[in-house]
Amino acid sequence: MKKRCLLAAGCLLSLALVTAQTPAERQKAETLLRQMTLDEKVGQMTQVTLGVVSTAEDGILDTAALRKAVREYKVGSILNVTNHALTAEQWRHVQTQIQDEARLSRLKIPVIYGLDGIHGQTYTLDATLFPQNIGMAATRNPELAAAAAKVTAKELRASGVRWNFAPVLDCGRQPLWSRFAETYGEDVYIGKTMGATVIRAYEEDGLKTPTAVASCMKHYIAYSASRTGKDRTPIYLPETEMREYYLPQFRAAIQAGASTLMVNSSEINGTPVHASKYLLTDVLRKEMGFQGVIVSDWEDIIRLHTRHNVAATPRAAVVLAVNAGIDMSMVPADFSFFTLLKEAVQKGEVPMSRIDDAVRRILLLKLKLGLFDNPYPEPAAAANFGRPEYQALALQAAHEAMTLLKNDEAILPLSHNAHILVAGPAARSISALNGCWSYTWQGKDERWYPADSKTIVDALRDRLGADHVTTTAQAGFTNPANYDTAALRSAAAGVDAIVLCLGENAYAESPGTIPDLALPQEQLALAYAAVATGKPVILVLTEGRPRFITGIAPAMKGILMAYWSGRKTAEAIGDVLLGDYDPDGRLPFSYPRSMGEMVLYDRKPTEDIREIFNSDMTMNGYDPLFPFGWGLSYTRFAYDGLRLSATRITGAEKLTISLTVKNMGSRDGKHTVELYTRQHYASITPNMRRLRAFKKIFLKAGESQTVTFTLDRDDLAFVNAQLRTVTEPGDFDVYVGEKNAQFAYGLR
Ligand code: BGC
Repeated sequence: MKKRCLLAAGCLLSLALVTAQTPAERQKAETLLRQMTLDEKVGQMTQVTLGVVSTAEDGILDTAALRKAVREYKVGSILNVTNHALTAEQWRHVQTQIQDEARLSRLKIPVIYGLDGIHGQTYTLDATLFPQNIGMAATRNPELAAAAAKVTAKELRASGVRWNFAPVLDCGRQPLWSRFAETYGEDVYIGKTMGATVIRAYEEDGLKTPTAVASCMKHYIAYSASRTGKDRTPIYLPETEMREYYLPQFRAAIQAGASTLMVNSSEINGTPVHASKYLLTDVLRKEMGFQGVIVSDWEDIIRLHTRHNVAATPRAAVVLAVNAGIDMSMVPADFSFFTLLKEAVQKGEVPMSRIDDAVRRILLLKLKLGLFDNPYPEPAAAANFGRPEYQALALQAAHEAMTLLKNDEAILPLSHNAHILVAGPAARSISALNGCWSYTWQGKDERWYPADSKTIVDALRDRLGADHVTTTAQAGFTNPANYDTAALRSAAAGVDAIVLCLGENAYAESPGTIPDLALPQEQLALAYAAVATGKPVILVLTEGRPRFITGIAPAMKGILMAYWSGRKTAEAIGDVLLGDYDPDGRLPFSYPRSMGEMVLYDRKPTEDIREIFNSDMTMNGYDPLFPFGWGLSYTRFAYDGLRLSATRITGAEKLTISLTVKNMGSRDGKHTVELYTRQHYASITPNMRRLRAFKKIFLKAGESQTVTFTLDRDDLAFVNAQLRTVTEPGDFDVYVGEKNAQFAYGLR
């Protein structure tokens, strides 16, 4: 693989943003570096999990173990929880004890604590949870994602924590992958737009401010592209494809000022990313100009020896990873990294210059975060926890995520007088509405959810009255009562409609690995039983990835994709089903029809073709159950007058594309306008569609608005066979809804 700087201007810009430390901070880091012993340096590069310094009781530290970690092993960082979320107050106490201990160390270097606030502050009880990234992508509303990120930052900081292991920038092009919900879906542009916006939201106030946290873009790179879909299994990826679909999100994140980065646990083309000097140093540092801290993922350095078998000894694993460019090891359960790295340096296997480079970055991060001035939880930050307006924001985010996939005969919205049966395993579940990283890692344990969390049954009863809502569902996704088809059939007598709540319970990472996207048989049986009653059935899906519903979808009158949309999922479902909110979510992925129909929207020309016999062919190769961008509304938006400012642009000229959007219905509503392009011919097979821009607008009933987009050559670029990002001259189609036009780029 070759190294090169693809976007020289981008490199410079990112350098400018991430080296935003003051000269005094740089000087302080250098002074400390000169004073530090080898032990102190490798200690800074060591990150351990909270369990290493805790008693068996959650939130209670073991003072002797803490002293050992901070003073004997001089660890620079701690992460995670032991079992479940703590209260904000418990967190502040934990942080205070840790920093007290650090203050007793020789150089008084504060400890940096990191947590995974990936859809809200996961690990603080009563923190506000928002939709997972997949639901945020469905909102097509980056400002909303930014507002949610700011709440996350505030609730983390209110817990005394200044480092967030978010956002996930992995591109969700493999729906089997158990972390699909953590992604912004299959499209590069949505991923890079959302990711960069969220990073700015975390960091833009300045990391010393009690409303900001250091972000951690992860998991560099292509973690989501595992060939089998199983978590942490091999990725085989040509570099053109890696750069086209998986790198732009990280480049945009660096330019947005991301302070830290976490590494992909898997291997790409046989090289574990934790051992790849090419990816970590040549591409990330030299080409893209990333100046922040690179942290390993969980136990991933030693796994170069224990799992990947590219290092014959544990020390060789450490040498490989640190020389490749990793600054901090999420060890996390012992001090082996400390001991092994020290030995490696003493034996000359890792140069001191590499150690100094890593430690300098870690110290600068701590300085940037103000930890040297005051490492303790800030009272001003504590006041930002759990504010009432966060609930309204969580509801708005859940509302905007809701994606109406089907609405035959306008079955929805239901009448406020309807009598309904609510059934299925998700009907009385809270965990199935929130998913992974929700007060526990797996998100399954409902004991830790806020006391006011609503189920779908609760939300519908609140809206229709308890006497209008019958249910066969019981608490607990796996409760056998939830799969009782006979009970469902008899309970359906006398109701006007059945709301069937199917999908997935919470899971995170490898425990969420499945062999098949098929919805489990017992859930399909519920759907068949519901249809057999003759009542209209509305399917509500709460799931982290698209499970096949192809067999049952035709019989459903309505289908609402609710994703895992956080604390207000049930309320948002209730509002959409009853028409109190007009749905405006758009699918951020192609909902697949079956295992053999996993074609993505930005397919290549030959993926569109289905050859029947020689030249006899159809062009329906992209045949998902619901296409990327799909999402119905209770009102109707019409597009008119697609206008281009030119039929040809050249050089750095800009092309303006505008159209009029009118709300033709009798209800107000939000609507996302999406703009796609297609290049007719290019040296690398062009995509049939690429999303280049989107805008979400609000239109009152009957109102119209002109929507304008601007494109330039960078928006039309792709990675060529020489790994250069180029825009080749040629003809392009532009599509907005059903409207399209043509223009050319290049010489006149
Ligand atoms: C996950 C990361 C996470 C880390 C710390 C790992 O297992 O892959 O996304 O940040 O744990 O919790």
